[in-house]
Amino acid sequence: MSTQLDNGGASGCPFSDPKEFTPWAPEFVENPYPTLKWLRSLGPVAYSEAMDYWLISHHDTIKAILMDSERLSSKTMLMTMTKWPEDVKRELATVIPDRPMLKDLDGEAHAQARRFLRFAFTPRRLEWIRGDIERIADECLDSLFSDGDGEGDLVRNFTDIAPIRVLMKFLGIPDDMREQIRMWSHNREDMLQGNLTEEELRAGVQPLKDYYAYARQRIEELEANPGDDYMSEVIQLWKEEQPENVVWDDVLNILMSLMNAGHATTSDLMGNGMWALLTHRDQWEKLCAEPKLVADTVEEMLRWETSVPAWRRVALVDLEIEGHRIPAGSKLFLLLASGNRDESKVTDGESFDIERTDGRQYVTFSAGAHYCLGQSLAKLELNTFLQRMVARYPQLELRQGFVPDYRVNAFHRGPNSLPVKLGS
Ligand code: HEM
Repeated sequence: MSTQLDNGGASGCPFSDPKEFTPWAPEFVENPYPTLKWLRSLGPVAYSEAMDYWLISHHDTIKAILMDSERLSSKTMLMTMTKWPEDVKRELATVIPDRPMLKDLDGEAHAQARRFLRFAFTPRRLEWIRGDIERIADECLDSLFSDGDGEGDLVRNFTDIAPIRVLMKFLGIPDDMREQIRMWSHNREDMLQGNLTEEELRAGVQPLKDYYAYARQRIEELEANPGDDYMSEVIQLWKEEQPENVVWDDVLNILMSLMNAGHATTSDLMGNGMWALLTHRDQWEKLCAEPKLVADTVEEMLRWETSVPAWRRVALVDLEIEGHRIPAGSKLFLLLASGNRDESKVTDGESFDIERTDGRQYVTFSAGAHYCLGQSLAKLELNTFLQRMVARYPQLELRQGFVPDYRVNAFHRGPNSLPVKLGS
């Protein structure tokens, strides 16, 4: 791979030809935005031979593809980013249901599966969890500086903990399982979406089996002894509507979908947003002086540095997109993070501005039939976390000169740590 900059001078972009593009290049993992800007300058559609994916970088083209669930499939579950060895596949086939997850379903099957989830995802449910989100935020902020020496890791002590605690409460999973679920969930994401070696993949098999086994056991417990949580409500709704036809593998898939979709997405978004705010000191100070800007700030955090920088679709038929012939069966890599900064949608999209008024057309939560089911919960969490953070620690500062590193994952982006202290 070339590291020469033959790319219109996009400093920080390691590629000179889109054919070479992969999301694993260290410069891209560190900062994808120069590459995304360069890809946009080449046009909405490019082809990566290295990945065998079509790269879609313009906002309107991404959105049109997301809206077109007739001709593009969401079935990407088994399209792991690295090839799994046969023994890993065999082992996992014994625990993973041979039925697609919600996000991998198309058409009527998807609409049916989404039904029970949607019915239980109501404003009343958000009100039910609101007090817990506030309590959890306060408890995590109490121990933000527990690392000693007046310093604390904002990721380890807050952004990576608060969302999973909220999710456990939401789904009816005991809080003492939090650390275990956090590790299982990261392992699952890395196996499906990361760039692991065969040895690392083999090491991930047992934790993944344990994760599924625990989820099955928890569903049995919630069925036998329902609580007032969301998952108990989904199970009860299904049993009431179709008592003869509860598909327990699908209930398992619902729980797994939510445990995965509702955790790293929100943790990473909060981590990215805090990094943005603490490295744009004027914006942080403006927000602390005017806390009513919290909601606008969350919108800009969602646009400027999404935690889900890419998503996928597969062409069901031959397509013509922006002059490119894309044969049936082709894989499309939708660069959501690029769409959010597209020059045609947002003025000076590379700059982080909590008072901008033209940033709301982001594709962070996708669009169309699969539009993120948890976006209202995510926004409630992000608003509450930020509001509590600003009220409590306006003097928060990042350790001088600190540059974060990031997990190597094609579909998740968030800092591994953010060391902070209180300034004067
Ligand atoms: C900032 C946080 C979040 C971001 C950036 C995010 C982003 C996304 C994206 C990009 C999709 C893909 C949709 C597609 O295939 O077109 C999605 C789907 C989904 N999200 Fe979120 N999400 C977030 C938080 C949450 C939360 C908190 C939950 C629930 C607890 C959740 C539940 C779901 C579910 C169930 C789906 C699948 C929807 C379907 O396929 O019909 N998400 N999300």
